[in-house]
Amino acid sequence: MGALPNAPGPILCVVGARPNFMKMAPLLAAFARTPGLPRSMLVHTGQHYDADMSDRLFADLRLPQPDLNLEVGSGTHAVQTAEIMRRFEPVLERERASLVVVVGDVNSTLACSLVAVKRGVPVAHVEAGLRSFDRTMPEEINRVLTDQVAELLYTTERTAAENLAREGVPGERTAFVGNVMIDSLRANLRRAVPPEETLRRAGLSGPSLRESGTGGGDRYRFALVTLHRPSNVDHPDALGEALAILRDAAERLPLVCPLHPRTQANVVRFGLQALLETPRIAVLPPQGYLETLGLMANASLVLTDSGGIQEETTALGVPCLTLRENTERPITVEQGTNTIVGRDRALAFRLTDEILAGGGKRGRAPELWDGRAAERIAEHLAGWFARRHAAIGA
Ligand code: UD1
Repeated sequence: MGALPNAPGPILCVVGARPNFMKMAPLLAAFARTPGLPRSMLVHTGQHYDADMSDRLFADLRLPQPDLNLEVGSGTHAVQTAEIMRRFEPVLERERASLVVVVGDVNSTLACSLVAVKRGVPVAHVEAGLRSFDRTMPEEINRVLTDQVAELLYTTERTAAENLAREGVPGERTAFVGNVMIDSLRANLRRAVPPEETLRRAGLSGPSLRESGTGGGDRYRFALVTLHRPSNVDHPDALGEALAILRDAAERLPLVCPLHPRTQANVVRFGLQALLETPRIAVLPPQGYLETLGLMANASLVLTDSGGIQEETTALGVPCLTLRENTERPITVEQGTNTIVGRDRALAFRLTDEILAGGGKRGRAPELWDGRAAERIAEHLAGWFARRHAAIGA
């Protein structure tokens, strides 16, 4: 039997790049078990396409295969954004979508939001209102524009609502629900892969990641490093400075560095391989979600320029040094374990020593980062659909 003629069409859930997958997994699960919601369809734009950047994360997160893959691949921002828009529009029309759900701040988020709003299909943006106030970041442009066109804006921290209000977004469109990325973290932590197994799986004997603890027994001692922001890796000077910080840290403890393809390519392009060639630094290809969780949860500290990892380390209580000049996630600094160090080598070195001496930030889990954010969003949406249906039927 087909759908009733006036039943709402499906919710199109959009993912494109690696950090989208852990946000969408709990949403899809919550939508499926919430009465009053239409069925969901998962659309992958194909912005990330390598097995390491996409398929492996789908498997780790037990995400269903996408109903559709637009296979856009890489390109300049204009090419990639335009191609996503061109390929998403007919899907939206064909499926008669009732809502488009986008997450985060990648090009796929903005591209699909623009298509939807121009076709009169409402957009729900999960992780709305975060601002770095740095418009040289492509993600900041994606955030600001997506929030301007979204009908429903779900926020992870209270400062987000203030940012949105300042930009003229009506308060009744926003709902503070918590953090879906932390839903995934909490749901999967017990499945995390132990750090030495990750090295072994990557074919590395690598540095020893354990040392003898004072109370007998071994404990982990290593830092996890991730670097991929264009501001850190797209220019030889910047990348050289970032790698110098890693060399300093490696004097103190072994480093495990899963390298993003962008970083990997630029290290070679700029002839900087020698900076990573020490037995104290294990360079790995991009890792799966469960491997990354195991590394993050057991690290003595994390050095990163990722947005999501600032949040995950805060949720785990692991000290994080962020190699950026700003963060769109201020709660991780104010309440969590995050410290912004930019590429200040002396500061990074001093803080590394402080953390290793036991003086790192302890932090606390922010409000509503409790593993139930997706459930709150699903319930909120069910109410929204009910009101909308009643209004249309009236
Ligand atoms: C994108 C997001 C960024 C996010 C990051 C997570 C935007 C503007 N940026 O940046 O916010 O933090 O994903 O990884 O959306 N590549 C591969 N294989 C892939 C995908 C990419 O080799 O599966 C290489 C290509 O050379 C590509 C480059 O990585 O040109 C950059 O990929 P792209 O999607 O343009 O941006 P990211 O740097 O991954």
